[in-house]
Amino acid sequence: MFQRFRRTRLNGHLRSLVRETNVSVNDFIYPLFVRSGEGIKTEVASMPGVFQMSIDEVLKECDELKKLGLYSIILFGIPDVKDSIGSDSLCEHGIIASAIRRVKEKHPDMFVVTDLCFCEYTDHGHCGIIDEENETVNNDATLEISGQQAIIHAKAGADMIAPSGMMDGIIETLRNALDEAGFENLPIMAYSTKFASGYYGPFRDVAESTPSFGDRASYQMDPANRREAIAESISDEAQGADILMVKPALAYLDIVREIKDNTSLPMAVYNVSGEYAMLKMAGAQDLIDYDRVVMETMISFKRAGADIIISYHAKEVAKMLQK
Ligand code: PBG
Ligand code: ZN
Repeated sequence: MFQRFRRTRLNGHLRSLVRETNVSVNDFIYPLFVRSGEGIKTEVASMPGVFQMSIDEVLKECDELKKLGLYSIILFGIPDVKDSIGSDSLCEHGIIASAIRRVKEKHPDMFVVTDLCFCEYTDHGHCGIIDEENETVNNDATLEISGQQAIIHAKAGADMIAPSGMMDGIIETLRNALDEAGFENLPIMAYSTKFASGYYGPFRDVAESTPSFGDRASYQMDPANRREAIAESISDEAQGADILMVKPALAYLDIVREIKDNTSLPMAVYNVSGEYAMLKMAGAQDLIDYDRVVMETMISFKRAGADIIISYHAKEVAKMLQK
């Protein structure tokens, strides 16, 4: 009788040999939130397992990550003082520059990505400089200081810059600024397709970056627009991005696949705070088999075309993979 070659009926090595999608510890970038002080490790209520840490704690965390085989992190800074232009992020003694420097000193083998934006550093919580009269972000003024922030990261030793503010022309601006300062080989991972999303809620608790007025809809993408979303990423490729990204991940896997099919660049997804919190809370209530659902979710990212997964689940996944 005819029987289809069904891979689920296989066992052992052949089953893994013919498996189309694999998740590896090498796929992940793990986000860390750093603030000043010493011995500080504060769990975030909306994101169990995620902490704000002082730099000394980040250094210890890196030891733990390396034991799990995780060598890539993305750093977010939480400054002591916020002002209208995010001065702390433009200063070589600011929280983010200090963190990069000390991580690279103690852990030269860690790959340190930096989130480049202003919302964590401004008192109004927006991703750039605000025009007082109409309360909107001034794109071009923001581009100018973004170049300065990139140089601060680069000089401190960052291995890759990841601009997340979605300003028009940001990639070209940063590429030129970095090249001029002698950092021609420093790669840029663009948050190239970033939607205005409710899934960032818990992040704004961790980073203490909820906008004090308005929202980010003027510079982030409308979730309803597929063609515009693709065009944004393709434009960043043309401006010189080295890696493209879709964010959030889960509700936008169709976009991931479509960009992947239209670019030769590596693709990242950002599995954001709200996505993490949903699984965490459902798992804590025993509504789902947590480990199984986490792994299924990671596979869905890879299957959709992601090469890189930025995720708060990275440590848990690394532990699952070790088993
Ligand atoms: C800063 C930034 C945000 C995230 C990453 N970088 C927040 C935002 O745009 O509001 C969100 C990450 C997450 O939700 O986990 N621009
Ligand atoms: Zn921002």
